[in-house]
Amino acid sequence: MDRADSSLEQRVVPAEHFVRLGLEHLKAVAAIERQSFANPWSAGELGWLVQEESGLCLGLWVEGELVGYCLGQTEGALFHLASLAVATAWRRQGWGSRLLLEILNRARRRGCGGCRLEVRASNLTALKLYHCWGFGEEGRLARFYTRPVEDGLIMYREL
Ligand SMILES: CC(C)(COP(=O)(O)OP(=O)(O)OC[C@H]1O[C@@H](n2cnc3c(N)ncnc32)[C@H](O)[C@@H]1OP(=O)(O)O)[C@@H](O)C(=O)NCCC(=O)NCCS
Repeated sequence: MDRADSSLEQRVVPAEHFVRLGLEHLKAVAAIERQSFANPWSAGELGWLVQEESGLCLGLWVEGELVGYCLGQTEGALFHLASLAVATAWRRQGWGSRLLLEILNRARRRGCGGCRLEVRASNLTALKLYHCWGFGEEGRLARFYTRPVEDGLIMYREL
């Protein structure tokens, strides 16, 4: 369901649906972001991406609750996956995979032939998820992350 359907969404909340994120969702997104990352995105960064034409930003609602979100941007024929997070109470139930596969499908439909992302080298949970869904390691970025400082791994898969 896209934003054009938001009036319907207020009356009938299906068990599970994807919504293209807009400014009105950012408070809920920021709450999950704070649970999930040592160095969360600012409201300004999130706001910029959801309004950007090249942005592809999805939220997954289950029974009226935002369970997780996935943010990215098309860069020509490449899709750059910028963030993926699931609220702590909803993890290990397949929602992260659902979000990832949905955004990859939408990126492919936009004409992207590949997806690239960076992930903290110590984030074994995310690395396992990305490996599960066909991403391979492409390189390493020394001291890419701050707070705490850490290397980033570049992952890529074709779409
Ligand atoms: C990474 C994240 C999005 C995964 O979401 P999720 O809803 O738990 O993922 P899924 O339930 O779809 O898990 C898919 C697979 O990933 C792997 N995985 C997920 N969580 C894991 C964990 N804690 N330990 C080991 N493997 C894990 C498993 O292989 C899992 O499959 P399985 O449950 O059948 O074993 C979630 O843990 C999260 O929000 N983490 C904090 C934010 C983050 O690190 N995002 C990635 C930044 S690049």
